[in-house]
Amino acid sequence: MAQLDGDSDRINIAIDGPAGAGKSTVARLVAGQLGYVYIDTGAMYRAVTFSAQRLSISAEQHEPLSQLMQSIRIELEPGERGQSVFVNGEDVTDKIRSREVTVQVSYFAASGVVRSVLSRMQRDLAVRKGVVMDGRDIGTHVLPNAELKIFLTASVRDRALRRFNELGDNAAITLDQLESEIAERDRLDEGREISPLIRATDAIELDSSGMTIEEVVSSIVQLSRTKLAEAK
Ligand code: CDP
Repeated sequence: MAQLDGDSDRINIAIDGPAGAGKSTVARLVAGQLGYVYIDTGAMYRAVTFSAQRLSISAEQHEPLSQLMQSIRIELEPGERGQSVFVNGEDVTDKIRSREVTVQVSYFAASGVVRSVLSRMQRDLAVRKGVVMDGRDIGTHVLPNAELKIFLTASVRDRALRRFNELGDNAAITLDQLESEIAERDRLDEGREISPLIRATDAIELDSSGMTIEEVVSSIVQLSRTKLAEAK
């Protein structure tokens, strides 16, 4: 049975899964209900990608990328509109969601130096517990001792449809294009050598295909209350 440190009455929750499974929405709502801090690790990979692109550094250029990783300062701030992301003090919240970043991010995420620096930052953010962290390698690599691990999935079509609906009327991309971009990102994330996207053996798999967001959130909150009681 997991033991909590000292008199802590909080646990860490890892939510992993492929693109568009609803992780960030679910993780944010779960954190809100539990009074925990939500950490979107994908935003950190996106922030690195955005910064590298601005400096014309490609994912294969190890030296310049290492230098960038030594100096980059990434901050995540919860706010009314959700989480804001800052790089070296600049608000990049919207910029990191561009298509240019989205289609390149998995290449930067395959870099060892990028992963080791970001994993360290992510572990530091979770030392005091009470964190809901979403990503691809949280349960397997970043927080292997997280008390609750969820692997959130849905069919590629469902995930593409969800993203398509989020984009609304001004979507500059068709549903089929979106589906193939998501499938390609899955392929890169699952196939990379370092910390690939894979379900941790002790993660609970939730297929969100036929479920509403509220249903997914309440089942994770329920599971976390059980874990919390067990760990005490
Ligand atoms: O688009 P979506 O919200 O699903 O992706 P994201 O969570 O913003 O993550 C963007 C990309 O960052 C992923 O496709 C992965 O390549 C990478 N990533 C990662 O490698 N490890 C993480 N812990 C989080 C994201």
